[in-house]
Amino acid sequence: MRERHGYPRFSFSAAFPQSSLFVPPSGFSEFSLDSYHLICYFEAMNKEEVKSIYSKYSSVYDMVFGHVFSPRIKMGIERSRIAEGDRVIEVGVGTGISLTSYSPQCKVVGIDLTRKMLEQARQKKELHKLDHVELFEMDGENMTFGDDTFDHAVAAFVITVVPNPEKMVSEMKRVTKKGGSILILNHFCSNNGFISSVEKVFSPLCEKWGWRSDISLDLLSNHCNLHITEVFKKNRLDPWSIIVATNNK
Ligand SMILES: C[S@@+](CC[C@H](N)C(=O)[O-])C[C@H]1O[C@@H](n2cnc3c(N)ncnc32)[C@H](O)[C@@H]1O
Repeated sequence: MRERHGYPRFSFSAAFPQSSLFVPPSGFSEFSLDSYHLICYFEAMNKEEVKSIYSKYSSVYDMVFGHVFSPRIKMGIERSRIAEGDRVIEVGVGTGISLTSYSPQCKVVGIDLTRKMLEQARQKKELHKLDHVELFEMDGENMTFGDDTFDHAVAAFVITVVPNPEKMVSEMKRVTKKGGSILILNHFCSNNGFISSVEKVFSPLCEKWGWRSDISLDLLSNHCNLHITEVFKKNRLDPWSIIVATNNK
């Protein structure tokens, strides 16, 4: 059983060991009880599943998502107080659609779990002669960098993909200096009770496509203890939020 969001867990099989009446719906391995809701959680994608899904996406990713995600990432980077000479870590850099948005005056290290996504990023590095960018195959939940290696950290559309988002954010905080910015872009589930219930119901389906739809902003502010300084969107109805936080470790 995987730890999800640090919420107290309620194990279906432990509570009803012999029960044939209370069989969780197909795909729902257990129920979690948090302070607000009883939520059905689908077992999170594991890292092999992530790699398999994103390896398949890698050749078409830019065509499908590039024009949607890149203007939002650019907006976020512009608001992140990245100055000349600063070192930036981008976790889950994917095919590198963000890379041309960074000033060549800063140093950027991009990491990703999926080799095929990184191959696309490497091609962009070559094509655009991005000598200030370095790329590594690495797990964002277990980075090999030392504490305080970077001035800023970025994660665009990754938090709903990693199996343990809190671990990834805590790693981003660890490798980044205190007071540096942490930029996170993502869709977060709605505050509206009805919409958020629909998002939670659809989350298992979204996982088949490579992300979840049941993560709320509360995860970042409360469970990851991020000091959020700004939350904005490209426009009012945009499904994706741009979060700028200060590393308060
Ligand atoms: C939706 S894509 C986003 C890619 C890129 N940030 C963008 O905005 O286009 C999610 C990426 O996160 C990567 N990823 C998932 N889990 C990861 C982990 N634990 N460590 C590093 N990268 C991870 C996937 O391989 C994939 O490339």
